[in-house]
Amino acid sequence: MNVKTSVLSALAQSGESFISGTRLADSANVSRNAVWKAVKALEAEGFLIDAVSNKGYRISPDNNKLCPELISAKLRTSCLGRKLSVLGETDSTNNYAKKLASAGAVHGMAVIADSQTSGRGRLGRGFFSPPGTGLYMSVIIRPDFGIETAQLITSCAACAAAEAAEALCGHETAIKWVNDLYMNGRKICGILTEASLSLETKSLDYAVIGIGINVLSIRDIMGSELVGIASSIEDETGVRVSRNALCAELLNRLERRLADIGSRSFLGDYRRRELLTGNTITANAGGEALTGKAVGIDENAALILELPDGSRRILSSGEANLCRIKKE
Ligand code: BTN
Repeated sequence: MNVKTSVLSALAQSGESFISGTRLADSANVSRNAVWKAVKALEAEGFLIDAVSNKGYRISPDNNKLCPELISAKLRTSCLGRKLSVLGETDSTNNYAKKLASAGAVHGMAVIADSQTSGRGRLGRGFFSPPGTGLYMSVIIRPDFGIETAQLITSCAACAAAEAAEALCGHETAIKWVNDLYMNGRKICGILTEASLSLETKSLDYAVIGIGINVLSIRDIMGSELVGIASSIEDETGVRVSRNALCAELLNRLERRLADIGSRSFLGDYRRRELLTGNTITANAGGEALTGKAVGIDENAALILELPDGSRRILSSGEANLCRIKKE
């Protein structure tokens, strides 16, 4: 390990506590001057480091550079995120992860990018992914459950993402069926799960769970088409959440939720957060516009829609899109 990596790892491990130059020097087996040079090199790469005399160094709580060491230091998982690839820019982390998965990448590997040039959303839409503001992550899973459980992955991931965001900013986070997270009525996160099926075993070969969270302010950089629709955690709460900490928290919670997916225990939390339920909505189901009252989420995470004649339609996520709450 070179001095810079060794210093970075030690700083990541000590979290918000300061660590003295002498201790850093001892752990890397180098001089204090070599430590100082490594700190300067890290700063030149974009890390924000606090240096205080008589205390030492620490990664600043305001640091906004994504890095594997800072994510790993907060991981409590056994598989998810234990292998991490952190990229500066890529077209789409889902594209990147799918290539890795096809080439045999292990269960739990995560790909994270600072920005995406062609971030993808559901239904062929794009996902705004500018640098320095968001968490764009794709996690490869090789599940041992069947296809009937696989349809729950996105809603299970939505719960994990809502819990992680809420834990770090302290603000209530809602889910809009099926895969969007909302704060104060504006979208702060979307999820796109893509899977590869094995025809031989009729099971999932792998799934890539792509999660995009707008973390820091995008108010001044988003296009006019997103104004009033998309937002970020910072814009809604004023809290500048660390992207590294959020990434680790999300992986921790996702692993726990996925381990229990078959029991459907996450559905209680999902239903509690869900926004459409109780509202009159218009859904586009297979080209047909359906207006009715959303009365709940069933055991397969499908939306139950009650039509004006009292009959009920079960809308699966694949079937229905563009659900809009009707203003009464
Ligand atoms: C949606 O809003 O419809 C889903 C958006 C999913 C965006 C994430 S960002 C990480 C991953 N890479 C992508 O290209 N898309 C997902």
